[in-house]
Amino acid sequence: MTLTEAQARHAQLAGEIQRHDHAYYVMGQAVISDRDYDRLYRELLDLEQTFPALITPASPSQRVGGAPLSEFKSVRHAVPMMSLDNTYSQAELTEFVQRVQKLLPGEPLEWVVEPKVDGLAVSLRYESGAFTVGATRGDGTQGDDITANLRTIRSLPLSLGARSSHRLDATVVGGPETACGSPLAGGLLEAKTGERARSAQDSAGDLPGDSRCCARDGRTPEPGQPAVPAVLEVRGEVYMTRSGFEKLNAERVAAGEEAFANPRNSAAGSLKQLDSKIVAQRPLDIVLYSLGEVTEGARPGSQWTMLEWLKELGFKTPERTWFCRSAEELLAAIAELDKVRGGFNYETDGAVIKLNDFDQQRRIGATAKAPRWAIAYKYAAEQARTRLKAITVQVGRTGALTPVAELEPVFLAGSTIGRATLHNEDYIREKDIRIGDTVVIEKAGEVIPAVVAVELAARTGAEQGFSFPTTCPECGAATAKETGADETAGAIWRCVNRECPAQVRGRIEHWCSRGAMDIEGGGEVMAAQLVKHGLVRDVADLYTLKLEQLAALERMGEKSAGNFLAGVAASKTRDLWRLLFGLGILHVGAGGAKSLGRHFASLDEVLAAGEDQLQAAQDIGVVIAQSLLQWREDKRNRELVERLRAAGLNFTSQLYQPQAAAGPLAGKTFVLTGTLPTLTREAAAAMIEAAGGRVSGSVSKKTDYVVAGTESGSKLEKAQKLGVTVIGEPELRVMTGAQPKGI
Ligand code: IVH
Repeated sequence: MTLTEAQARHAQLAGEIQRHDHAYYVMGQAVISDRDYDRLYRELLDLEQTFPALITPASPSQRVGGAPLSEFKSVRHAVPMMSLDNTYSQAELTEFVQRVQKLLPGEPLEWVVEPKVDGLAVSLRYESGAFTVGATRGDGTQGDDITANLRTIRSLPLSLGARSSHRLDATVVGGPETACGSPLAGGLLEAKTGERARSAQDSAGDLPGDSRCCARDGRTPEPGQPAVPAVLEVRGEVYMTRSGFEKLNAERVAAGEEAFANPRNSAAGSLKQLDSKIVAQRPLDIVLYSLGEVTEGARPGSQWTMLEWLKELGFKTPERTWFCRSAEELLAAIAELDKVRGGFNYETDGAVIKLNDFDQQRRIGATAKAPRWAIAYKYAAEQARTRLKAITVQVGRTGALTPVAELEPVFLAGSTIGRATLHNEDYIREKDIRIGDTVVIEKAGEVIPAVVAVELAARTGAEQGFSFPTTCPECGAATAKETGADETAGAIWRCVNRECPAQVRGRIEHWCSRGAMDIEGGGEVMAAQLVKHGLVRDVADLYTLKLEQLAALERMGEKSAGNFLAGVAASKTRDLWRLLFGLGILHVGAGGAKSLGRHFASLDEVLAAGEDQLQAAQDIGVVIAQSLLQWREDKRNRELVERLRAAGLNFTSQLYQPQAAAGPLAGKTFVLTGTLPTLTREAAAAMIEAAGGRVSGSVSKKTDYVVAGTESGSKLEKAQKLGVTVIGEPELRVMTGAQPKGI
């Protein structure tokens, strides 16, 4: 195959994959089996391996994340990203409508109501239809360039217009040729018959597209997609899906990491990551609702038609929107949104009300910070007030101390709450929470109750500040503060005594848990009894337990003791990943343990691997690799491994897939240094990885090649000292099978 042929096939595959991504991630309905999708993807990867020049930022293969950045670049917004004024009552909302009417005397006003998505505002820039830059809002004028992170979000189109050749959704909804049969026929802006507020989906069916024929102010668009302006900036909100958030938090807790407080923090923490490979694993999504800079050409004249236009272009837009013509209709829409928003897969904290007509918007303009034509209506969260009786501290399996609010029981959203989380020390300090305070509690994410505020006016002066204990409440050993743990930002206090009964109990329980060694009967109560009676100090002790020891425990018959021992015996043959996960090594969750199991044949191989070798496993980054090395450093852990081996536990991996030598550089490690003539560091790394090689950050005896450009510094010196082969970009191109530059 020539490069030209490969280019044509690559473009075809990329287009097809994008159409399927759109169908699945934006429209929510797959039109191809996973297997067929994987086949297309595989073919694309194979082509890129043979012709690395095909690896462009717009390729679907780049969604998995790239080389970590050292910092985010700053981006200036061509059009400032404004904020919104808030209202909290129906009266204020009616006043807002009156204010706008006064600015536009005698003119009919139309409104669009959208959910206020509780995420992070971002701006996406497309040039000639290609996604070029994505940025955070920052201070409104300048934000961070988070392009690499945003590229990992599957519903975000990497190029616009790629769906135009054959529309997947046309087979489902009939496509733009469909006659205008929706109640909105004739153009939204002409339908002024004073119908009640309604939702786009209510009036136009569940699938986007039904009112397409009426898009762009009533003019019938050409079949296919609308033309894409040379520069198009689209704005919206990145959020973490509720279901994804819960799963992610469960995994974090299982890996001994701190849970995120809510989906918003979790999305914010994810976008702040410098390593886009981590972001690629986070369940992020994006919804778009406004425009920034847009050059020339036909563009929609109203918010409603703009949302339709964005949908046509392949963006995900708010799943319910309401079209209103009066304050009464607005109030009805807001009430309806409040009823249905619990069913959305993102959190909403209100409604956004926007004047529909762009010309009217332009004429009334904005204040220094917010537009005069839009407002956010915030729903009151389900809250309750109660007294904070005490703050207790729970000790987890990794020794992490979690502060818990002990409350005067209070009824909130369907249940009685006596305890609520206080997250961490920083949280308590920021909110100035004191024992004896009257506090406001909220069901965050409608599940976990949290203390969100203090009623300062209710203070008597008798309240007491809280400081974290310097000794562990369980074992009395010293506690230590760990700072900058990760993007959850809050500092963590830990009990440093690994023999602490709370930690031992936690470790036993975790080892026995279903996701780990799956030992029936080894729950919280059993773990507590075993530790309390001194029968078990670590997980290896489980394998020396005798029936009579167990049968002597409180509320334990011979039968359940026998069942538990049978479960312990059965666990000896569990696969390696379960054992690895069960050991409770910080940051090694079930997913990480499986990745290790696929890459290494046995526990001995995992424990003998160096940092680079560990990172060679799929999805194993520096955090997990270093945590494993640190764990192995501890003599007590090495002894534990030997006792488990002596007890007869399986150390081999059934998941192990020997790495088939894939690509001309399989098994070779490269280090990049200096500035290469034409390739950026990212592009060179991608080229090496596509050819099966690995890129490492530092030169060692294990390095096979150093690729040096101009201004190579200490890495080049080290390579020369160690006798590592040094090559340049032309040699690299030959080795990877890439076309030499210029062909
Ligand atoms: S419009 C100039 N629409 O709310 C108008 N914002 O409190 C710009 N938000 O910064 C914003 N959902 O991050 C708009 N449907 C929606 C929204 C929305 C959430 C966020 C956005 C904005 C903040 C203002």
